[in-house]
Amino acid sequence: IAIQSKGRLNEESLALLNEIGIEVDSSKRKYLTKACNFPVELLNLRDDDIPSVVANGSATLGIVGLNEVEEKGCDVEIVDRLGFGACRLCLAIPKTEIYNGPEYFLGKRIATSYPNILRRFLDSKGVEAEVEVITGSVEIAPAAGIADAIFDIVSSGSTLVANSLKEVETVLESEAVLICRKDISVEDRQILEEIRFRMDSAKISRGKK
Ligand code: PRP
Ligand code: ZN
Repeated sequence: IAIQSKGRLNEESLALLNEIGIEVDSSKRKYLTKACNFPVELLNLRDDDIPSVVANGSATLGIVGLNEVEEKGCDVEIVDRLGFGACRLCLAIPKTEIYNGPEYFLGKRIATSYPNILRRFLDSKGVEAEVEVITGSVEIAPAAGIADAIFDIVSSGSTLVANSLKEVETVLESEAVLICRKDISVEDRQILEEIRFRMDSAKISRGKK
């Protein structure tokens, strides 16, 4: 199972595995950790790499944001939505601007780490804009004068507020998902079904609390 090594989803991914009785020693920040009581190994990766590692079969399963799966366009099966890591991919513009719909972005420069999802959205609206790919701190691009708008992950919204930006379009509602490689073996399928069964039970008992 590939999981995010650090960042937003790491803790909750480990907590979920723990909740379903898969014990791993997370104190050891290693690339590969073995569960002591279940036939799985955890692969600690950057979230960006998880979809391709699962698609090429280096990992059988992965826990990653739907945003990364959609952006990478990898051929994996989305098994379940996991109910944590909720966020949305939004277009945001300086808060003093007047927004009149997607045509606002005509000829504008938009900074993002999600060029594929953004281009798909712009194409669907028939809007031609310049997409500037930046891998981090996208929210500072407008103030820095390197873009007119941004397309980025919004969770609490505080990053936008801190940078005097406002959300104008939500393009994707994301959360953590369990993904699986396409050509899974019979044995691996059995382990996956056991994991899903335990995750469903955990979800139900959480609902009762
Ligand atoms: C994301 C995103 C924003 C922030 C939004 O970055 O790029 O900076 O979270 O969250 P908020 O709405 O709660 O303020 P993240 O912290 O995931 O790090 P990254 O930029 O390295 O991916
Ligand atoms: Zn990332």
